[in-house]
Amino acid sequence: MIDYKVQIAQIIAKQEIGLTAEEIAEMIEVPTDPKNGDFAFPCFRLAKTMRKAPQMIAADVASSIENESIFDKVEQVNAYVNMFICKDAFVRNVVSEVVSLGCEYGKSNVGEGKTVIVEFSSPNIAKPFHIGHIRSTVIGNSIYKLYDATGYDVVRINHLGDYGTQFGKMIVAYRLWGSEEELEKNPIKSLLKYYTKFHEEAEKDPSLDDKARETFAKLENGEPEEVELWKRFRELSLEEFSRVYKMLDIEFDSYAGESFYSDKMPAVLKELKDKNLMHESRGAQIVDLEDYDMPPAVITKSDGSSLYATRDIAAAIYRKQHYDFYKNIYVVATQQNLHFKQWKQVLALMGYSWEKDCIHVPFGLVSLEEGTMSTRKGRVVFLEDVLNKAVEKTREIISEKNTSGIDIDEISKEVGIGAVIFQELSNNRIKDYVFSWDKILNFDGETGPYVQYTHARASSVLRNASQQELDRIKSCDIKDFSYVTSDSAYELTKLIYRVPEVVREAAAKYEPSILTRHLIDIAQSFNRFYHDEHILVDNEEEKVEKLALVYATKVTIANCLAILGIKAPDKM
Ligand code: ARG
Repeated sequence: MIDYKVQIAQIIAKQEIGLTAEEIAEMIEVPTDPKNGDFAFPCFRLAKTMRKAPQMIAADVASSIENESIFDKVEQVNAYVNMFICKDAFVRNVVSEVVSLGCEYGKSNVGEGKTVIVEFSSPNIAKPFHIGHIRSTVIGNSIYKLYDATGYDVVRINHLGDYGTQFGKMIVAYRLWGSEEELEKNPIKSLLKYYTKFHEEAEKDPSLDDKARETFAKLENGEPEEVELWKRFRELSLEEFSRVYKMLDIEFDSYAGESFYSDKMPAVLKELKDKNLMHESRGAQIVDLEDYDMPPAVITKSDGSSLYATRDIAAAIYRKQHYDFYKNIYVVATQQNLHFKQWKQVLALMGYSWEKDCIHVPFGLVSLEEGTMSTRKGRVVFLEDVLNKAVEKTREIISEKNTSGIDIDEISKEVGIGAVIFQELSNNRIKDYVFSWDKILNFDGETGPYVQYTHARASSVLRNASQQELDRIKSCDIKDFSYVTSDSAYELTKLIYRVPEVVREAAAKYEPSILTRHLIDIAQSFNRFYHDEHILVDNEEEKVEKLALVYATKVTIANCLAILGIKAPDKM
């Protein structure tokens, strides 16, 4: 497709204003108010070198480019050159690009040949996969999709919390109070019960803690019975997690969690020692970070066992060696900001300059609105239950509408789960938010169902097209778009045009909400167009042109939803 910024920059560059086309392209803006043109070129910066008032420079530039065929109109306003491009040609360009690229529209290859790791979800085994995990899981998956869409080779890693002293406690608790039958029936809920009981009992009887330490030491030394039990807990937990991932349609390329690094720890300890970075403090081994205004990073505890932070150091080194990443992204809550700062500092002290390519992408907290889930006080809310409830509630809403010809089971899943995902991605990720059913399932709000409904509406309009009309649209056999001139049609086209750029920006900033907000704008703009204009008119040419824009909108919405990890049903 024509890159308008580049094209305009080339035209302006002919004016000998002392800037290259690349520099000009960087300066060109998209005015927020369309009254100021589709593109604007500010001339402030030129005043000094050209020794002329910026308004005069703008006036000169405007009058020398106004006859270029790409423009409808060029105006000078203060120090700006405001440019209005030819609508007809613009709409034709955009629509034909979307039509010919189909599901590839929005993608680009800026990342070609580079490997990016996105680590996300990373729940702890033998612990509930609760509502708090949804953020890393959903934000991480869409960051993966954003990088995939911009041409990077992406590796999805689930850094499972499957190691650490708590497994000593878990094994002791299971041996004391657990049973295989109970475990089989309800693995995580039972493990959670044993674990909670362990803590209650250990308060009365501290010898339990000693026992847990011994047991963990046995696990670290590879004693078969302990390893067997730990494996069983891991396997059962993964089965539960998989159910949730399946509902969300999320996959991973690697489940190398914390335990994967247990045999890589001695080398890290040796390296820290050799580089003179580690010393003893009250029996523990630490890296002092006082010079960086941070508490020390604890590398091993006084009993010699390794820690979460140590495993993260080993993981980063392993990933660099194994994947030679361009970026190594960690989608983890803000609560772990300090941990990641310390860890980066330790890597820097070790002399690893690639530490700057390791990026912690934090996000805020989710809390549930009162009455969201009926739980007894203090009980954790399982993510699986929330997703099931979303599907159930969606089914109730949809059942009230005309449901002829739709598979209600399938649609309730796609819309209910899509609503939860969309909500997660619709605010700036760093913001805390409150989960509320009324908000996420509002079909008229800025929600997933609203965007999906808009997509279904576009699909339904297209079902009125004849095969011949569809063929013409899909081969873009349309001479010009002289009937598509309304403001609403033009605004819609401009939003569609910007999608590839928006996808790149969202990836670069690790911020899926940039795409989500843009998608809401597209949906709202389409609905304005739909209400303002008659699409299925008698004039065949006019009808085909308008249907082509509807088709381009439908493709674009579906592609953006796919990048967010959300389905786009044709009917709902
Ligand atoms: N398992 C951890 C938790 O649930 C998150 C792991 C984050 N990733 C990492 N490499 N430290 O809190």
